[in-house]
Amino acid sequence: MDLIVLGIESSCDETGVALVAVSGADLPRLLSHALFSQIEMHQAYGGVVPELASRDHIRRVLPLARQVLTQARRTLADVDVVAFTRGPGLAGALLVGAGVACALAAALHKPVLGVHHLEGHLLSPFLSADPPEFPFVALLVSGGHTQLMQVGSVGHYQILGETIDDAAGEAFDKSAKLLGLGYPGGPALSKLAEAGNEQAFKLPRPLLHSDNLDFSFAGLKTAVMVQAKKLATLHNSTVGALPETVLADLAASTQAAIVEVLVKKSLAALHKTGLTSLVVAGGVGANRCLRTRLDLACAKQGVQVHYPELHLCTDNGAMIAMAAAMRLQSGQQTASDVYAFDVKPRWPLNAL
Ligand code: KG4
Ligand code: ZN
Repeated sequence: MDLIVLGIESSCDETGVALVAVSGADLPRLLSHALFSQIEMHQAYGGVVPELASRDHIRRVLPLARQVLTQARRTLADVDVVAFTRGPGLAGALLVGAGVACALAAALHKPVLGVHHLEGHLLSPFLSADPPEFPFVALLVSGGHTQLMQVGSVGHYQILGETIDDAAGEAFDKSAKLLGLGYPGGPALSKLAEAGNEQAFKLPRPLLHSDNLDFSFAGLKTAVMVQAKKLATLHNSTVGALPETVLADLAASTQAAIVEVLVKKSLAALHKTGLTSLVVAGGVGANRCLRTRLDLACAKQGVQVHYPELHLCTDNGAMIAMAAAMRLQSGQQTASDVYAFDVKPRWPLNAL
């Protein structure tokens, strides 16, 4: 099978487009990808404004598509399949990608394929220089999801545990907001944490010792808030105006709490399944502290850890084109020439 897949991601605040080539049974190859992040636009509001996100996807998607075709020295006529993120995500934002993908495919008389956003994250490490091999345990840590999965092959995902409330990314984002850091909070909090002492404050490690593989991060956010308010009273200040060193200590303590739980539960999942390969995917996978601690803990256990390239940890079109390519290649899904489309803003991965 020789195919070129054009992938479009528009589930949240990043418009991503990419071209991936499938050749026989080889691992699909990324030809080009382009991304436009709306972070600057949403920053003024402290978070993603869905209607603004949808409108901006409309502006960006076709120029990005032209860009990836030019970069790869291809034309629209070379595209064999058009893939798009079908869900989960913001309904309006998803509809832009789905609408453009289906219109483009209809005009080109080529089939379309809707992709699960989390499957895109999950398979994104296959785009790295050091791709994993099936089977593996996956730690999926994004803004909206925190899950441990046993992955047998493309499309065979068994959830081992997941968060019962906030996601790890949400814990980063909400704690960052409490500390007066901007949006997106994860990168801001982790940067501030670099200068801090992670033992300065004792914060809870929710469900660390539970005998299952579930997570809970909502209580941590509350503990950060209580600690921040205490410190503000002590310093006769507002939380945002606390001395930089104090904020850095609190950021480092928060990050350490989140990371410790993620590492411990990942090791428990490996132990439970007997697998020796771990894949980390999703935006929080870009966190340097998480990477260092996981590498250390896994090396001790003889476990190999695989990450997506840093720039492909957060949302992008490459992972959507790749997931589509791998689904087609494995026979898990066929592309369709029905151009009526729908999106699935809520869509559990195990429903695939
Ligand atoms: O996967 P992603 O781009 O979007 C979703 O599908 O949700 O993940 C975004 C999440 C946000 O919560 C963001 O704060 C977090 O990933 N994130 C990080 C870092 N970079 C992104 N969290 C901690 N440290 C980082 N370096
Ligand atoms: Zn994502």
